[in-house]
Amino acid sequence: MCGIVGYIGKKPAAPYLLDGLKKLEYRGYDSAGIALLQGQTLIVRKEKGRVEQLEKARSAAGTAGIGHTRWATHGKPSKENAHPHVSGKFALVHNGIIENDYELRARLIKWGETFSSQTDSELIVKLLAREYCGDFLIAVKNVVKQLRGAFALAILCADFPQTIVCVRQGSPLIVGKGKDYLALASDIPAIAGEGVSAFVLKDGEFALLRETDVFFYDAQLRKIEKEQTEYDLQTDSPDLCGFRHFMRKEMQEIPQAVKDSLLQIAQAEQSACLRELLRRTERVQIVGCGTAYHSGLAAKAAIEGLARIPTEVCIASEYRYRNPIINANTLVIAVSQSGETADTLAAAQLAKEHGAYVAAVTNVPYSTLTECADLLLPTRAGREIGVAATKSYNAQLAVLYALALLFAEERQKDVLAQKRALQAMPQMCLSALPVCEEVRGWSSYFLNARSVYFIGRAEDYAAAAEGSLKLKELSYLPGEGYPAGELKHGTLALIDETTPVIAILTRKDLAEKTLNAVHEVFSRGARVFLITAFPEYRNREEVFASVLIPACERYFSPMLSVIPLQALAYYTALARGNDPDKPRNLAKSVTVE
Ligand code: F6R
Repeated sequence: MCGIVGYIGKKPAAPYLLDGLKKLEYRGYDSAGIALLQGQTLIVRKEKGRVEQLEKARSAAGTAGIGHTRWATHGKPSKENAHPHVSGKFALVHNGIIENDYELRARLIKWGETFSSQTDSELIVKLLAREYCGDFLIAVKNVVKQLRGAFALAILCADFPQTIVCVRQGSPLIVGKGKDYLALASDIPAIAGEGVSAFVLKDGEFALLRETDVFFYDAQLRKIEKEQTEYDLQTDSPDLCGFRHFMRKEMQEIPQAVKDSLLQIAQAEQSACLRELLRRTERVQIVGCGTAYHSGLAAKAAIEGLARIPTEVCIASEYRYRNPIINANTLVIAVSQSGETADTLAAAQLAKEHGAYVAAVTNVPYSTLTECADLLLPTRAGREIGVAATKSYNAQLAVLYALALLFAEERQKDVLAQKRALQAMPQMCLSALPVCEEVRGWSSYFLNARSVYFIGRAEDYAAAAEGSLKLKELSYLPGEGYPAGELKHGTLALIDETTPVIAILTRKDLAEKTLNAVHEVFSRGARVFLITAFPEYRNREEVFASVLIPACERYFSPMLSVIPLQALAYYTALARGNDPDKPRNLAKSVTVE
């Protein structure tokens, strides 16, 4: 959450900073700002809202600068709380959260400081101004020592033209070196370009960017050499290719994301590390947040069903506080599109400390999660710009299902049919895509719903949970994904004619049971929207509307049933006037706990 960027070069910094911030908007869009050094004068421009609100700053002079796009943690979204924050000769941008904010702020107030924002970041710049005795780097180091929490900082000092100091502790930070300029950012796409070398900072590391040289330091300010990080990202701005929103475009890319992810894991199959892991794993724990947690729910059924390995799925923010039972034969799979989710990282770290083997399923190979894991099982979803996860969910499922099959083979199970079925999933996803347009008409029935229920059993419940999250985060309608059989134990009280119910039914052996639940909600006046793989259930009197998705191997069905669910969330968001690419209060990379 929050994106930071910096530039030093011969050209004006403002256009570079604004373009970089736009590429980081997936990290937050509550406010934006830049600070530029014009000689020894700091110029600051900030606005509430999206980066486009700052466009008038594009012509500002200055060839060194820093910028920020915010996802509010401490302090509401406002111009005052927007970064950069300034004190004395310093301007600073911060991504992360300062946990001892209260204590440090109290100390500064005691010393007579006053604050113009409610942010935790402002106290850092105040501390800097107090610590500074002429050495920029030492001042930053002395302040960093006092901070607890997660942060990536980029700082300008009026005494040092064409210089930026930056430091990383828990929030991502990348330094870029171009032909005649230097840059930094929270993520590679913001600095990627022809001939640009990228250097990913590790926790505790500092970088000093001066003129055209960059120097790296460890936590004790000893100079270090850093390896350049390979990246294969496109350098141009991602194109909507005729779609109105990235989310809709990215849903069309699901078949490719699944195909590429399956290819990727097929290439890793023979690695000694993976073979060893397949052999020795006795238990699996999957940790993740939000959509990544839901892909774990779907994968559990496959790993247990196909390979008969006991598998738990845990919300990462809970796992950390639970003293989990782990031994050396426990495989912990940390699932995270961004690879930067603070709770997932902490869970992975904890698992490692307890002696587990940690595999990372992530879409970002240079992420912190990759760094922390013993084994990388990459998804190849490509860049996902829409803040709500779509194709990355399907890609995670592809990797996790493939892993389930590898485990099953290792245990001498006959899974040939399922292997073929998994290889056919990209094609199946392609055949499922036309249903997106069919559910478009459903959205009018959801506009003013009091709440929306998503029900299913087994794999269908896993998909229901994800469908519900998508609708909540994009349309802001309350709702729940619920096990169909559990409704009758109390929750039916919430179902009436104002509660649309989406029922998911992809398993023939569970049809009667799920249809019982459908009947129960219908009897209470709910309109039922059915997503099914079986045409024979579409004409039942309880079913108000339905779509047919292709029938596939049972364990893999969430990969298909999620497609109309994503589309429903998308079209309902549009109908309610929301921007599906930038839902409120969500960021693509949740780097705070
Ligand atoms: C939902 C969504 C979030 C993320 C969650 C984890 O659409 O985007 O729920 O899934 O914040 O993010 P990653 O996968 O990056 O760890």
